[in-house]
Amino acid sequence: MLILGIETSCDETGVALYDGERGLLGHTLYSQVAMHAEYGGVVPELASRDHVQKLLPLISEVLAQAGVTRAEIDGVAYTAGPGLIGALLVGASVGRSLAWAWGVPAIGVHHMEGHLLAPMLEENPPVFPFVALLVSGGHTMLVKVEGVGRYEILGESLDDAAGEAFDKTAKMLGLGYPGGPVLARLAESGDPEAYRFPRPMTDRPGLDFSFSGLKTFTLTTWQQSTQTEQDKANVARAFQDAVVDTLAIKCKRALEKTGLKRLVIAGGVSANKGLRERLSKMGGELGAEVYYPRPEFCTDNGAMIAYAGHLRLQAGQHEELAFTATPRWPLETLPAI
Ligand code: KG4
Ligand code: ZN
Repeated sequence: MLILGIETSCDETGVALYDGERGLLGHTLYSQVAMHAEYGGVVPELASRDHVQKLLPLISEVLAQAGVTRAEIDGVAYTAGPGLIGALLVGASVGRSLAWAWGVPAIGVHHMEGHLLAPMLEENPPVFPFVALLVSGGHTMLVKVEGVGRYEILGESLDDAAGEAFDKTAKMLGLGYPGGPVLARLAESGDPEAYRFPRPMTDRPGLDFSFSGLKTFTLTTWQQSTQTEQDKANVARAFQDAVVDTLAIKCKRALEKTGLKRLVIAGGVSANKGLRERLSKMGGELGAEVYYPRPEFCTDNGAMIAYAGHLRLQAGQHEELAFTATPRWPLETLPAI
């Protein structure tokens, strides 16, 4: 089955073609970062309007890139939630309409299921069951994954998601938007011995996270420093190390609790080099395999939506002609296949 995948849940327009036999045939991404940077964050209405302008040309581009005609497409997958409602509705309405016009089924994909399954696009994909650490701008969760749609949430963030904490901290340090990758780059030149920040909620049992206090701690430390460029790098490093260490401690607990030996890391923050290195090392110590998507599939992309949609369409699931987008959508409510 050849599936067209569409991602428009936030500030990236992603389009991809995934074929059950031939794999990923093409993918492209347009990032709205430059447009939102001026406002210091995503402006939902601007995001929706930009998706409207970019989506159809990107679909044509991916078809041309892959040398595929519309007639060959067997189904359309679009992100149906969670995300910004206006942005979601662009992908949902275009995706559902194209499927109707082409006479093929359509499926609304859960954005976090897309992230969770993204490592399956790599050469050495994980097999079920595994523990997944999903770390994006909107969500931080540990999930026990028995199969597609068989998800048990083991723990999640009680306040800011990890990516959100990166972005807000970066903003406080004057690093602009989107702050996560910029802060991560700055942290590389920071002295790891300069400060040691708390590892929130690791002193008590459980798998939930809380990063909002750490953000405030970072701001206070920065304000009380001499505020040189090196101080800034040192504070960024201490913040990143605290987030990475906290995530690693909880991943270790989740592996021990479930007795599983496979860990999947996905979502925007899984592109973080420090996190990847730390978790790979931890996996080695525990005798567990650790899997990540390639960096471009850690952050939002169309490939993960095409892939997740392919699995569900192949299993016979599809939407009716009426469609909805679901800005808040608990992962555990998905049907198993
Ligand atoms: O998965 P994603 O692209 O979008 C959502 O579903 O939210 O994740 C975006 C988040 C942002 O908060 C961004 O700052 C963060 O991932 N991020 C990073 C890195 N690259 C992206 N955070 C830390 N280090 C990075 N290298
Ligand atoms: Zn995402």
